Amino acid sequence: MKRTICFFVTLTWITAIAVFHSSSWISSVYQESFAPQENQSLCACHKCLTEYDPWLSGMMKASPEPFLTPKTNISEDDFKWWRRIQTDRRSFSVYNQTVNKLFQIFPLSIDMPGSSPDRCRTCAVVGNSGNLNGSHYGPLIDFHDIVIRINQGPTKGYERDVGNKTTHRVMFPVSATNLDNSTHFVLFAFKIRDLEWLIKTFTPKKNSNADSGLKANKDLVMILNPAFMKYVHLNWLGKKGQYPSTGFLTVIFSLYMCDEVSVFGFGADKHGIWNHYFEKVKHLSQRKKTGNHPGSVEAEVLQDLYKHQKISLYRGW
Ligand code: C5P
Repeated sequence: MKRTICFFVTLTWITAIAVFHSSSWISSVYQESFAPQENQSLCACHKCLTEYDPWLSGMMKASPEPFLTPKTNISEDDFKWWRRIQTDRRSFSVYNQTVNKLFQIFPLSIDMPGSSPDRCRTCAVVGNSGNLNGSHYGPLIDFHDIVIRINQGPTKGYERDVGNKTTHRVMFPVSATNLDNSTHFVLFAFKIRDLEWLIKTFTPKKNSNADSGLKANKDLVMILNPAFMKYVHLNWLGKKGQYPSTGFLTVIFSLYMCDEVSVFGFGADKHGIWNHYFEKVKHLSQRKKTGNHPGSVEAEVLQDLYKHQKISLYRGW
């Protein structure tokens, strides 16, 4: 009897250790690679981004996590790439100290449920191109579960063409606008000062009547990982241009959050200028066409994603 009990206790221990090891192995594989894996669980959509595809897996295999968490460690090389794109010259250790301060205020984990066979997370990424004017895409955009808008990209007065639902808004300090309580604020920080701005904006003021100047739900803040920007510049754009545009980065991070991605409002006008649906292009000759960003390369990559059936592209009017 004693022997039998001993045998079962030992067996239970062995099983527990085996389960622990296999589950930690699975999670470490998941953390090491964001690329879709062979035999990975699918979603409930007609076609899922998590479906294994050698092309997409190849593109995603070097990817760091898209958003900062307290556990994110970027390398000094990544930091130097990030510092190069702006004028803030401060050191890597100032960056690390600032990130530590961030997570005394902001959520420690990102609200990004993974894919599951019983749901289909559809996403609309809405750029600001003038090709949205007259498109009548509004109801189609709003039909998606997740609607990601960028910078000012207004909805009021443009509902017929761009819809009025917003679940995520990508912004940086200069373009930041007030958000309602249920919209995620996705910060693209291009320098340490942008992170400091975020901390300052959301730190409660001593005088509680003082207005922070920005209304947004602190618990829904997501901060793009600087190492992810570098990865997109190197791996998706072959280092073309100074750095990727906000819109292009948004399309690439949506591949991690969504099972199906529909892209609206991307594309230059007939002069090659990134015009906006909400304003007329002024001083045609004075405008840099697509700024510091490699507009034509980005357009080619979006076309590749479309050809590989990873995104739907709505080219507008
Ligand atoms: O101009 P803004 O940066 O606010 O636009 C958001 C994004 O939409 C850009 O970063 C770019 O990727 C995309 N865009 C575009 N064609 C335009 C205007 C914007 O592809 N005509």
